[in-house]
Amino acid sequence: MRAIVVTDQAAGTAGMTLAERPEPPAAINDVVVEVHASGYVPTELEWPSTWTDRADRDRSPSIPGHELAGVVTALGYGTTGLSVGQRVFGLADWHRDGTLAEYVAIEARNLAPLPGDVDFTVGASLPISGLTAWQGLFQHGRLQSGQTVLAHGAAGAVGTMVTQLAREAGAYVLGTGRATDREKALDYGANEFVDLANDSLEDIGQVDLVFDVIGGDIQKRSAALIKTGGTLVTVVGPPESRPADGLAIDFVVEADRAQLTEVVQRVRDGRLRTNIGTVASLDDAVTTVNSTERLKGKIIISVRP
Ligand SMILES: NC(=O)c1ccc[n+]([C@@H]2O[C@H](COP(=O)([O-])OP(=O)(O)OC[C@H]3O[C@@H](n4cnc5c(N)ncnc54)[C@H](OP(=O)(O)O)[C@@H]3O)[C@@H](O)[C@H]2O)c1
Repeated sequence: MRAIVVTDQAAGTAGMTLAERPEPPAAINDVVVEVHASGYVPTELEWPSTWTDRADRDRSPSIPGHELAGVVTALGYGTTGLSVGQRVFGLADWHRDGTLAEYVAIEARNLAPLPGDVDFTVGASLPISGLTAWQGLFQHGRLQSGQTVLAHGAAGAVGTMVTQLAREAGAYVLGTGRATDREKALDYGANEFVDLANDSLEDIGQVDLVFDVIGGDIQKRSAALIKTGGTLVTVVGPPESRPADGLAIDFVVEADRAQLTEVVQRVRDGRLRTNIGTVASLDDAVTTVNSTERLKGKIIISVRP
């Protein structure tokens, strides 16, 4: 099969190549999925799991890409709940070969059915950003109606999901980002926008929940704005940089079939808009991710156009 492969961590995206790889077999509880569309996150080549297995052994050459939408072609031993020919979407294991490939082997529990009226491209854009927003707001952040959310990076892939889900849940959303992100953040539903370079973050008042995707100094300054009993959830940066007061909940998104189903249902009925910025073919994937232009929104590789 054709796949994007990386072998040299130091080379970054310049080291990505389109290569021929063996089709993966379906292990216990796996399915093999014929990938139609794959989501790519620009920071992936910096993640240790791209390079090592769960025992910390080198697993390169590895195939990046952790979001997919496609069609099940084989079931592993003992696999239940999905069937051959079914349309699915979901989140691939961080430590296994990923979805920038014609086929991927993946645990069935990491996938949900993809309704027939949702494009593969849209399906592949939802798992990381949709589940991250859902888990940060509702599981870790325990968001309640009427609360105020400070959503950093509100025009980004995660931030647009955070904004929409928080608004739907009855929260007041203060979105942040760069000056050029203002219109987009407001368009996705932020009640107000804070330009982090030119507005004063300290003037926004107290909030119940900070959803951080930026880290560093912005995260530290945000921690000071949280009401008593409030929470800061974050998905970036080394844990050492967290505020020392124990307020921050640092998490890595997990696959969850029920939550994927909630997210895609909202896309179908118009409550949630995905934020796809770039769609490229597998042939153009290497060139696209090496673009010198800053790509905005989700990057989707259309493996089977
Ligand atoms: N741990 C997890 O489970 C998990 C899950 C999902 C994502 N993440 C991480 O979360 C981060 C965000 O992901 P994403 O997909 O939402 O990225 P994204 O689409 O690039 O969104 C980030 C947004 O924040 C803005 N931003 C970043 N730094 C800023 C700054 N200093 N001042 C103002 N605006 C700033 C970006 O603007 P520009 O585009 O102009 O820089 C962009 O609009 C990434 O580091 C990703 O790896 C982690």
